[in-house]
Amino acid sequence: MQVIAEIQAGQDELTAWRRHLHSHPELAYEEVQTAEFVAQKLDAWGLRVHRGLATTGVIGTLERGAGRRVGLRADMDALPIHEANTFEHRSRHDGKMHACGHDGHTAMLLGAARYLAEHGRFEGTIQFIFQPAEEAAGGAKVMIDEGLFETFPVDAVFGMHNWPGLDAGRFAMRTGPMMASMDCFDMEIQGHGAHGALPHNGVDPVAAAAQVISALQTVVSRNVNPLEAAVISVTKIHGGDAHNVIPDIVQLGGAIRCFDDELRAFLCRRVVEVANGVCEALGATIVVNFNSGYPAVKNWPEQTELAASVATAIVGEQNVDAASLPVMVSEDFAFMLKEKPGCYIFIGNGAGEGACMIHNPDYDFNDAILPLGSTYWVRLAESFLGVSSR
Ligand code: NI
Repeated sequence: MQVIAEIQAGQDELTAWRRHLHSHPELAYEEVQTAEFVAQKLDAWGLRVHRGLATTGVIGTLERGAGRRVGLRADMDALPIHEANTFEHRSRHDGKMHACGHDGHTAMLLGAARYLAEHGRFEGTIQFIFQPAEEAAGGAKVMIDEGLFETFPVDAVFGMHNWPGLDAGRFAMRTGPMMASMDCFDMEIQGHGAHGALPHNGVDPVAAAAQVISALQTVVSRNVNPLEAAVISVTKIHGGDAHNVIPDIVQLGGAIRCFDDELRAFLCRRVVEVANGVCEALGATIVVNFNSGYPAVKNWPEQTELAASVATAIVGEQNVDAASLPVMVSEDFAFMLKEKPGCYIFIGNGAGEGACMIHNPDYDFNDAILPLGSTYWVRLAESFLGVSSR
């Protein structure tokens, strides 16, 4: 088996869709034009189309008799990044950019929807889930809360993300943790302002912040089993306006990532304990707030085996890493895998020179892999549902 010939022959059209979406990026819950683009196509191919789940989500349903039901999911949102590329299909929306390849994900799933509507050999139901707001806004969770799996029931759900650094023509996946949980924290250290020349008259929150940041480095290095993976990064620090004034307040922010629910709870607790302890010793006070992040993406064994075998049938065993290393970035497909069995895989976006990482102003989705991604979706759906005997 290889890339499906008819899909490969439609490479130019897939590319045109992808570049149109790239030129018109929309942020979380604002994917109005994108949703319209998707819904019109699904409707034209004869799918039953539902719009408006999680504001801008679109579901296309393809039903052929009774049988199993599978969900295939693509994300549609862009990032608040100003694109640095100058090619013809660059973003037309200042400060917004498809820097994570969700334009490609949407185009690949559309390609599969059309092929399956016209030629699909299966018996059962396919739900094509076009999800809004993957980037930080948790659109998957909102879709679930609004009844995604009650209204559009599935026996399993599958996702796919492009991955720069992985060669085009390759796939990677693993059973168990594939991507990390993420919890963001914000801290406010309250000191007592003073003249910069008279520190003994105040409580210095800048000095306290420095100690808090240093002490937080010991949580992963000293409190976590070295055989378990975790990252705590302080990524924001704000405080002070003058060279000669000790400020009242310093604010810190950052994120905690790991693969295990118990460890996740421990790390959140430990960050608060360490920050509180340091500040108390220095006479300052601290308030720590978390905003609920994404859980870890955990692939189910049976569905991962299926995903690997489908990928292997298309590109050969040598091009499928079925036991790939997990990555510490996070993804809200995790919420779907908490509700339903399934698997999330990476499709290579290209490696070597010019393989720009996602979330970068120079990034672009690799159009050459569009037919391969569509083929994976088609063969996965047909394999999961079983080929119709009619
Ligand atoms: Ni992404």
